[in-house]
Amino acid sequence: MTSTATKPRGARARAAIAAKTLRTDRWWLAPLLTVVGLTAWVAYATVRVFMHKWYWVDAYHYLTPFYSPCVTDRCVEGASHFGRFLPGWWIIPDAALTLPFLLLFRLTCYYYRKAYYRSFWLSPPACAVPDGHKAYSGETRFPLLGQNLHRYFFYAAAIISLINTWDAILAFHSPKGFGFGLGNIILLVNVVMLWAYTISCHSCRHIIGGRLKHFSKSPVRYKAWTFVSKLNVRHMQLAWITLGTLALTDFYVMAVAAEWISDLRFIN
Ligand code: FES
Repeated sequence: MTSTATKPRGARARAAIAAKTLRTDRWWLAPLLTVVGLTAWVAYATVRVFMHKWYWVDAYHYLTPFYSPCVTDRCVEGASHFGRFLPGWWIIPDAALTLPFLLLFRLTCYYYRKAYYRSFWLSPPACAVPDGHKAYSGETRFPLLGQNLHRYFFYAAAIISLINTWDAILAFHSPKGFGFGLGNIILLVNVVMLWAYTISCHSCRHIIGGRLKHFSKSPVRYKAWTFVSKLNVRHMQLAWITLGTLALTDFYVMAVAAEWISDLRFIN
């Protein structure tokens, strides 16, 4: 049997079918929604990161995760847990210590890789739909070879989640003393979701339960692995939920900081 399809390296030839795909369902919908969702989020985050204002509410110590920790010399003191050692140039994000690692953590995430390979790179856009490219080298060459560094970005993300947790705790201590408002709930929910996403990482699952020959000899690790595995099956949902909670948290802090709205206070 001959084939008119280009034979990808290391793959068997495609069947000689004239149609591009025999799928009749809306296979294009998921990649399309992914492009729209990720593009909108990246556009919002980029604008916010380079806005350099409305990231801190002094009255309640709310700090948006997009500026945590704030390390440039234009940062307000309460937002700068690690000092202000970078120059406040417009091009430098105020959270320059953490944002690159968070970006790399998400970029190399197993789920996001699937999402953007399919939707932006069309490689392939869906099952049983041909690849949008003639050659295919997988992740065997630079720069995609760097995807293997994901486990190290996981460690960085875990540390950054600790910093976000500290921010959420500090927000209960306003200059007037203990306080509690809607902003605290939003910060807290965001942190819980960030932990759920981070812990559900495939690398985390391997770090906890991998390289074990007998689960019965490591009952604690087995229990932790079982817990992580349950979260891991929701990794895609958590990836999207955390994009939502991050944007919502940032927007709420911006709205209160800019005095577009007042924080709904329950105590103090
Ligand atoms: Fe998605 Fe690690 S696999 S964060």
